[in-house]
Amino acid sequence: MIVFINGEFLPLEQARVSPLDRGFLFGDGVYEVIPAYAGQLFRIEQHLQRLQNSLDAVRMANPYSSRQWLNILWELMSQQDYDNHLIYLQVTRGADDHRSHAIPVNIEPTVFVMSSRLKTEPATTHHPGAHTITREDSRWRHCDVKAVTLLANVLLRQQAIDQQCEETFLVCDGQVTEGAASNIFIVRDRALFTPPKGPMLLPGVTRDLILEIAEDIDFPCQERTVSTHDLLAADEVWFTSSSREIVPVISVDGQQIGSGTPGAVWHKFISAFDHYKENIKERKQATGQRTAASAQ
Ligand code: PDD
Repeated sequence: MIVFINGEFLPLEQARVSPLDRGFLFGDGVYEVIPAYAGQLFRIEQHLQRLQNSLDAVRMANPYSSRQWLNILWELMSQQDYDNHLIYLQVTRGADDHRSHAIPVNIEPTVFVMSSRLKTEPATTHHPGAHTITREDSRWRHCDVKAVTLLANVLLRQQAIDQQCEETFLVCDGQVTEGAASNIFIVRDRALFTPPKGPMLLPGVTRDLILEIAEDIDFPCQERTVSTHDLLAADEVWFTSSSREIVPVISVDGQQIGSGTPGAVWHKFISAFDHYKENIKERKQATGQRTAASAQ
């Protein structure tokens, strides 16, 4: 597998990072996960903007312009033998010659980018629905920053895996914030709800697209707090992310959600989402070119 590291495209086995890298020592870095369908980067402006926001929040300079990032991502994709990508991009503060909490001046950031094959199912495919759990949100208070410091998320997600579940929903003061690696939506009385943006959740790019779809298809949708009671009483629950798209939930903490199968509103939205993706692919066929597809 060819990856990008610090200005070079190399086989993964040859990619090296210093043990003094602050990403390794302190989790001092930020990242993005960006899907590409048929070689078309999905909502790339939004991902690059969120990367910029994360870098600003942790006082790091962006090592590349948007144009340079695009060239790196396009080149990386061209080196793979598949068309649907999940791109992982990480920028850490880099390596000093000693370990100190103080932020060093004049060190080069470490930039690592890799692609893996993105597996996606068309909307028509039967989805069995996901089992999930809830846990107290033990993360820091800057969850809107996409930081590589993910130990709490890892441990919280693992608790779901230990129970043969797929996601852990995080609860802070009785309110559900998001999933360990996803955002949350609930449907109640034919309206869609998702918690408002703020320091306790990541502003998901998929989340924003769902809000846009709701507006486009005139489906009632509101950003408001979701209590654990709202969650369990919901007709439908979904979680969303760039890697999983929109996942229908059929149980939370062993309690059935709605009818115990993916709901009608989920079907509506996953079809619209697929349609959105198809538009991007068609645009590529029509132009025969790669574009920074955000399909606005
Ligand atoms: N995670 N909230 C958290 C905590 C996440 O880690 C993610 C995604 C999301 C959804 O964001 P988006 O729709 O932009 O992917 C919400 C990625 C996929 C990851 O860490 O692998």
